[in-house]
Amino acid sequence: MGRGDVTEESNPNAAAASPRNPIIQVEGIRKLYGGIAAVDGITFSVQPGETYGLLGPNGAGKTTTMRMLSGLAPVDSGTISVAGIDVVKDSRAVREVMGVVTQHDGLDGGLTVFQNLILYGFLAGLSRKHAKNRTHEVLEFFGLRDRSKSNVYELSGGMKRRLAIARSMMISPRVIVMDEPSTGLDPQSRNRVWEELAVLKEAGVTVLLSTHYMEEATVLCDRLSILDNGKILDEGTPDQMIERHAPKEVAQLRVLPASLRIVREYLTQREITFREVGALVSVTGLNGDRPDLSGLNDVDGVRTSYRAGNLEDVFLAITGRELRD
Ligand SMILES: Nc1ncnc2c1ncn2[C@@H]1O[C@H](COP(=O)(O)OP(=O)(O)O)[C@@H](O)[C@H]1O
Ligand SMILES: [Mg+2]
Repeated sequence: MGRGDVTEESNPNAAAASPRNPIIQVEGIRKLYGGIAAVDGITFSVQPGETYGLLGPNGAGKTTTMRMLSGLAPVDSGTISVAGIDVVKDSRAVREVMGVVTQHDGLDGGLTVFQNLILYGFLAGLSRKHAKNRTHEVLEFFGLRDRSKSNVYELSGGMKRRLAIARSMMISPRVIVMDEPSTGLDPQSRNRVWEELAVLKEAGVTVLLSTHYMEEATVLCDRLSILDNGKILDEGTPDQMIERHAPKEVAQLRVLPASLRIVREYLTQREITFREVGALVSVTGLNGDRPDLSGLNDVDGVRTSYRAGNLEDVFLAITGRELRD
């Protein structure tokens, strides 16, 4: 069975594929913890087949949002509809159409890869035969067949995350919700997870993911929201967000410690905005134009390069803070 065959061929809810018919619709949801709003009235919708991101730092409210969407945490107010199901009223029904990948994988370490998948299938209500067939399909689809007899505790972090994603596909979901799919993974495993997500997208699955990595949001998301303190600050495609909020170009100065004072003085005197991240000084010109750094050309220990504005700059522009911790 090929990778493209993982979703059902016939779509019983074909009407949902119309662009005016979002498959996820979230309106004004709120969640309080001890009187403090973890999620403070957020609204967004996702079209069928879209990959939609919630980009925000730790504590922004991403996990809380995802838990409410998957029916795991009740909302204090607001409405959520997923594939026509009212999640607030019927939190169980949503799990039949939605795969969930939590930040902590929740795999059973004492079981094999195969057992984890088939058990999940049973618990989700598949018949013995269907669960078994589906397990074989999913193992094939995610290239996990040769690991099927491995115990979960033997797997690397990247492999576990792939298994968690594979497991969410057991029910052939139309929507998958993934909380920080690549957090804590090394770059190679992260790339592998990104590849899996691209394949899911190709198969027509709608993906809602949260992340605090701007690269991940840029690479994967068709559209995204910037989330901070439980509120959505802006929404759009990555390109739109960059166009709206980021400078076209940012100069990056690699500065040796001995030259740092000269660089700071030069920039401060000319009122050029800059920020320092370790030995890297990022400089943004006025109105996003290229700043005049010609006076630094002859300073020893300064190497200048330019990069395009990115979602990190967007977050900084909107919130005044770095996305990174
Ligand atoms: N079960 C909980 N009890 C109390 N406070 C919580 C709980 N879950 C989350 N919070 C708080 O809500 C805010 C948002 O948390 P969370 O949704 O986990 O953010 P994120 O996933 O973006 O890091 C944080 O301030 C967090 O401390
Ligand atoms: Mg979280």
